[in-house]
Amino acid sequence: MIPHNTVEQILDAAHIEDIVQEFVNLKKRGVNYIGLCPFHNEKTPSFTVSPSKGIFKCFGCGKGGNSVNFIMEHESLSYPEALRYLAKKYNIEIEEKELTAEDIEKKNERESMLVLSSYAARVFEENLFETEEGKSIGLSYFRERGFRQETLKKFNIGYSIDKWESFTKKAQTDGYKIDYLVMTGLTIKKEEKTFDRFSGRVMFPIHSLSGQVLGFGGRTLKKDTKAAKYLNSPESEIYHKSRILYGIYHARKSIMQEDKCFIVEGYTDVLSLHEADVQNVVASSGTALTREQIRLIKRFTSNVSILYDGDEAGIKASLRGIDLVLEEGMNVKVTALPDGEDPDSFSKKKSNTEFREYINENETDFIRFKTKLLVKEAEGDPVKRAGLIREVVRSIAVIPEIITRTVYIQECSTLLNVSEQVLSSEVGKLMRQKAFKDRNRYPGPADLPEVSRKKAEAAKPPEGSAFSERALTRLLLKYGSEEFEKVEHKEEGTEEIISVAQYIVNEIKEDELEFSESVYKKIFDDYSFHISEGIFPGDKFFVLHQDPDISSISADLLSESHILSTIWTQHNAYVETEEEVLKELVSESVLKFKSDKIQGMLREIKKQINDSEAAKNTETTNDLLKQHQVLSAMLKEISKQLGNRIVL
Ligand code: CTP
Ligand code: MN
Repeated sequence: MIPHNTVEQILDAAHIEDIVQEFVNLKKRGVNYIGLCPFHNEKTPSFTVSPSKGIFKCFGCGKGGNSVNFIMEHESLSYPEALRYLAKKYNIEIEEKELTAEDIEKKNERESMLVLSSYAARVFEENLFETEEGKSIGLSYFRERGFRQETLKKFNIGYSIDKWESFTKKAQTDGYKIDYLVMTGLTIKKEEKTFDRFSGRVMFPIHSLSGQVLGFGGRTLKKDTKAAKYLNSPESEIYHKSRILYGIYHARKSIMQEDKCFIVEGYTDVLSLHEADVQNVVASSGTALTREQIRLIKRFTSNVSILYDGDEAGIKASLRGIDLVLEEGMNVKVTALPDGEDPDSFSKKKSNTEFREYINENETDFIRFKTKLLVKEAEGDPVKRAGLIREVVRSIAVIPEIITRTVYIQECSTLLNVSEQVLSSEVGKLMRQKAFKDRNRYPGPADLPEVSRKKAEAAKPPEGSAFSERALTRLLLKYGSEEFEKVEHKEEGTEEIISVAQYIVNEIKEDELEFSESVYKKIFDDYSFHISEGIFPGDKFFVLHQDPDISSISADLLSESHILSTIWTQHNAYVETEEEVLKELVSESVLKFKSDKIQGMLREIKKQINDSEAAKNTETTNDLLKQHQVLSAMLKEISKQLGNRIVL
């Protein structure tokens, strides 16, 4: 595996003209180079290299791409092989094996801490089940609370002897260095004294996704001390509280099977739910969820369900953190438990079936839940009401999916008794504020999922609706972040700028249309995902994309500087550049795209009508006819608009 930043480094270093020059005799022609195409036979050169864009393009055979694409194609190499080839050429080290002394030391340190932690978990476990003190104090505590032995074993629950430095001494006798004991936080060192952090506590080892022990939570059993109820391992090389979810190791399989993850607050809630046969559960350990924790869950499912303790103060405190989950595009449900109950106590009072039934009946969509809760609170208080609307708008605005957002706007408009228009314009405003703020956050390939390599295809000549898809994709790539139009909000005296990308994406998503060519669809989806996050991917973003199909098509599109403008100039001889007519060009291309799509749908429906008529299926036929009518009307409208502009 080549690290992402190395890939970037290679892509940055590999100047296209250097690379190609090794295989092709290039001549300078203006800002570009030109030569005979190595990929097909030709007598006059149509193979062009553009150093400024970092791409090559043959206008004869259509092949094009960045330097990696060139090497892949020319040397028949896979994507990683081509990267290695280029890395070698530019003396870029791929640090798969090359570790510095410091790295090795760090690595050893980590290893040692992990070994020590799993040793500690074993010692604590032995203490609980095999020592008199452990059995009489620790085990009896869990028995009293009604936990089963098999559950304690499953989670490697343990006990730390109630002496000043019982564990520290034992570990040292067994050969563990005091340095690592201190680094993992198992031992506290004050001046020259050392003592056990967790003495007298029952121990909950915290496992990584792969089951390694990273740290501990320890609960005191003493009723009336000032000591904190729970103590946790301190932050260290191996234990990062914000990246850990208690229970994830024991839950992951079930999360995948159920396609859902329950989130509770505490260690004992996780244990109890397992006893109630709910295994897809993790604990946030009493703090607000972090982005890293959410992404950890998202590797397995997009559906989370939060089980709240039944008191309203607790619920409201946790509301804020949930927006982060929505922002990741996940579906969030919540279940409020009866007053005074937490998942642990409540699941113990109910049979497994009753518990599940309660969840099924009370689980509510998060935004609906939040809205209802706040509505109740703001009753008859106009000031609170305004705040409440803002709150709800904020949650809706972070949802990346436009369709989901729309559904919520509709629903909350009813719940809040505010018009959909007002809500939707407020949501839009917030989103744009965020977009503006995040404009400079430039995503790197590291932000994208790894894509498996497919053979980079030569550019196909566009045909049918592929033509308008291609044209639109090109505008998106080339002019996405440019201004499409300014919208004035008279009442507020504000102005708002809609970008080309926002316009294109909104138009297409609003009509629920989709690209049919997979590579354009990928680019479109990727692009719209980014702008929904408020980020404009720069033009290099797609050219340097790690999916070879995308990088080669993007290079292709960016090198086509004149296709659309030629069409345009046929009608208007004075137009010199696309930029001058950008707005018309964009809206026209969107209309053309829609028109092609609808024509395709109409053809499909016609076929279905013929089939269902043949099968004498009157009801279906009528349905199809209706659909046909609606689409035809839409097409007519679009053609009219297109006709008013120009016929492509
Ligand atoms: N917590 C913590 N430090 C504290 C209190 C709580 O880290 N001083 C975390 C623990 O992860 C705990 C969670 O917050 O599991 C929830 O706290 P609480 O509801 O008080 O604990 P329970 O898990 O319900 O523990 P118990 O049932 O044993 O009282
Ligand atoms: Mn509890």
